[in-house]
Amino acid sequence: MKAIVYEKYGPPEVLKLEDVPTPDPKDDEVLVKIHAASVNAADWHFLRADPFLVRFMNGILKPKIKILGSDIAGCVEATGKNAKRFHAGDEVFGDIFDCGLGGFAEYVCARENALVLKPANLTFTEAAAVPMAAVTALHGLRDEGRIQSGQTVLINGASGGVGTYAVQIAKSFGTEVTGVCSPSKMEMVRSLGADHVIDYTKEDFTRSGQRYDLILAANGYHSIWDYRRALSPTGIYVMSGGSMAQIFQAMLWGPVISMTGRQKLGNFVSKPNQEDLAFVKDLLETGKVKPLIDRRYPLSEVPEAIRYLEQGHARGKVVIIIQDEIRNDRRL
Ligand SMILES: NC(=O)c1ccc[n+]([C@@H]2O[C@H](COP(=O)([O-])OP(=O)(O)OC[C@H]3O[C@@H](n4cnc5c(N)ncnc54)[C@H](OP(=O)(O)O)[C@@H]3O)[C@@H](O)[C@H]2O)c1
Repeated sequence: MKAIVYEKYGPPEVLKLEDVPTPDPKDDEVLVKIHAASVNAADWHFLRADPFLVRFMNGILKPKIKILGSDIAGCVEATGKNAKRFHAGDEVFGDIFDCGLGGFAEYVCARENALVLKPANLTFTEAAAVPMAAVTALHGLRDEGRIQSGQTVLINGASGGVGTYAVQIAKSFGTEVTGVCSPSKMEMVRSLGADHVIDYTKEDFTRSGQRYDLILAANGYHSIWDYRRALSPTGIYVMSGGSMAQIFQAMLWGPVISMTGRQKLGNFVSKPNQEDLAFVKDLLETGKVKPLIDRRYPLSEVPEAIRYLEQGHARGKVVIIIQDEIRNDRRL
């Protein structure tokens, strides 16, 4: 099969399109023929070993996992002998980060519990754009942020992968949503359902005097003290990513501020799981959430796709088309 492989850590140029053996499913795995995959910040973190911590997870000197790509959508091709949930021909999607990645390839083996049947109303391309970003947004809002109907919620970084899902998921919980983004994306964030949109190049929401019950920041963007000022007295701030300095600040000061007052502030790491992807699937099937796709690249252009995402201004998700979607789906 064709796959995008890397043998050493570095910039996107170290990624090569190669022929590699098609994997065989273990007993609890299925072999998936991948139709589409999407790119996440995790891919370039693993590619560059940035932060350095990645080397403790994937090899100190060179990568043990050589094929990146966590979000996939495709068809089950074969099943391991203990795999009972899915059958050959099933259309599935999922985040296979905990199965050892491998989505930038024509085939991958994944445990059954990483996958869910693809929503019937989505193409493979759309489905591949969902798992990691949408489940992260769900964990941030529902589990870390304890979102409640009627609250005021602010999403900082509302126009990227996590943010576009966060706006829609927050609306699905019956909240009043403010999205923060750059000027060219304001209309798009409004179209996702945001009640208010703030252009961060013109207005600093942390100094406007407005207070929010819940703030989800895709990345840090501001200091934790700025976020504290923008929270209601019992408000919660959660951060899904950011620079090392912002992450350390959230890890160090977040618990201190949270222990000494009624506000809660901190970062979180989202772990993929089948149950929460199934929850997101329901939101997709009822039309409450829609994937927003910025650019599509063929498998051979994964390096360009990662280079684009790394610039930090994607409009929703960046997808890799692996099988010919046009043939399979007339809507694209
Ligand atoms: N497992 C996990 O816990 C997990 C999973 C997924 C992601 N993450 C982390 O979450 C973070 C976000 O991921 P993502 O997929 O959403 O990234 P992304 O698609 O690159 O989106 C980042 C967004 O940030 C916006 N932005 C840039 N500068 C800004 C500023 N000063 N103020 C407000 N917004 C600004 C950009 O929008 P504009 O173009 O409008 O500026 C862009 O849409 C990453 O750090 C990632 O590592 C963690």
